[in-house]
Amino acid sequence: MWQYLFITKFKMRNVNLDGGRTKVVDLLKNGQPDSVVTVKGWVRTKRGNKNVVFLAINDGSSINNIQVVLDPAKYDEELLKSISTGACVRVVGKLVASQGSGQSVEIQGKEVELYGGASPESYPLQKKGHTLEFLREIAHLRPRTNTFGAVLRIRHAMAFAIHKYFNDHGFYYLHTPLITASDCEGAGEMFNVTTLNLEELPRNEEGKVDYTQDFFGKHCNLTVSGQLEGELGAMALGQIYTFGPTFRAENSNTPRHLAEFWMIEPEVAFFEIEDNMNLAEDFLKYLIQYALDNCMDDLQFLAKMYDGELIDRLKFVLENDFVRLDYTEGIEILKNSGAKFEYPVSWGLDLQSEHERYLVEKHFKKPVILTNYPKEIKAFYMKQNDDGKTVRAMDVLFPKIGEIIGGSQREENYEKLLNRINELGIPDKDMWWYLDTRRFGSAPHSGFGLGFERLLLFVTGMANIRDVIPFPRTPNNAEF
Ligand code: 4AD
Ligand code: MG
Repeated sequence: MWQYLFITKFKMRNVNLDGGRTKVVDLLKNGQPDSVVTVKGWVRTKRGNKNVVFLAINDGSSINNIQVVLDPAKYDEELLKSISTGACVRVVGKLVASQGSGQSVEIQGKEVELYGGASPESYPLQKKGHTLEFLREIAHLRPRTNTFGAVLRIRHAMAFAIHKYFNDHGFYYLHTPLITASDCEGAGEMFNVTTLNLEELPRNEEGKVDYTQDFFGKHCNLTVSGQLEGELGAMALGQIYTFGPTFRAENSNTPRHLAEFWMIEPEVAFFEIEDNMNLAEDFLKYLIQYALDNCMDDLQFLAKMYDGELIDRLKFVLENDFVRLDYTEGIEILKNSGAKFEYPVSWGLDLQSEHERYLVEKHFKKPVILTNYPKEIKAFYMKQNDDGKTVRAMDVLFPKIGEIIGGSQREENYEKLLNRINELGIPDKDMWWYLDTRRFGSAPHSGFGLGFERLLLFVTGMANIRDVIPFPRTPNNAEF
């Protein structure tokens, strides 16, 4: 007997997901003149006289506002008074070709509803042109400014493009834990995670804190990187990536460091360092191209306000091959440069941003991928070169940023990896699960970490990393 299987396909109901409004971005792009439309948004400016009132309304969908024209005679005086900068309103009206310059269409208001006022005496965003420092103090309101609207839309677009890139290339999104017991980078810059009573810590016989009584039965911390677990995924699924928050308790108050930042970490089986470099370059160029293709209004705004060379710089990266250079050659170039650096240059130096930027901005004038670093300044898991001195590390260095990506080929040899772990005094009893990947079906593999906010610094042209994440976490700053 034949059996027929009927599969009913999910059909989307005709639901409005826009909150009963037309978005400003759509009105400005495809709005039909003479149609009656509803917009909902926040008043950016209000001007006019007793005969006419102009409202500029922004609803977050675009850097551009829509202009609403009201005849004051038709509205309650109190209502009109309450519609001030920062207020949230609903406006129904007719879309018409705009009289004024600067916009194609505007709305002749017929009906106005005030959702929530914003008293001119206390609403802090009255005027344009607040400093970025001031806006950091009101991080709960700064998404309503043009600058942060633009940055946050670009941030979204980049996150989406990252998932798209990896999905299109057959990588699996692997969720790695935020609470771990290991220190991937070995720098000891970790936030503890504990439920022990800090006022009355339990002690063992040696007088040390007894973490066996803690929630997880061992000492845990917030992760500095998803890589180690990412490697477990790559050794099963072939190619994976992580994209999540990472935490570093380094007390460095610089424009490029956050205590909580997002990292993208692809990890790929059967990849040598050259493949890893090819992936990094292709990936970064894809993201930059995506921003140029999809975020031009916002990029142009940021270029106008903060960084006139922004768009040229983005295009420049697309048009040029990244220079690939040995660390040792890089040190020679820096030594012979005649430039004065705060940290003097010699082989073995952990390069500072000043050195990285010299190579990129002054010497090559192109992004640089620096490889084969001294093993002493890199993490335990990197593949050791035959010279006994260097490891197969790769850092991608960008103009204005310095290091944007850090990665490597991984040491896949069990003995060599174990030796290095012992040399560095890492307790190997905590690493047994990681070492097991090298005991069972080990394979060459490589990966890297892209700092999401460093990428955004480059793409938006903003100068401070605190201004490319909605709620920055830095020393002494966790208010919002
Ligand atoms: O070079 P890092 O420390 O590499 C790792 O964590 C590796 N486990 C990655 C891997 O191979 N899977 O960090 C990677 C990137 C840096 O290049 C930088 O872009 C960013 O993360 N980064 C930070 N971004 C903001 N604030 C900080 N404090 C950062 N520390 C690193
Ligand atoms: Mg690094």
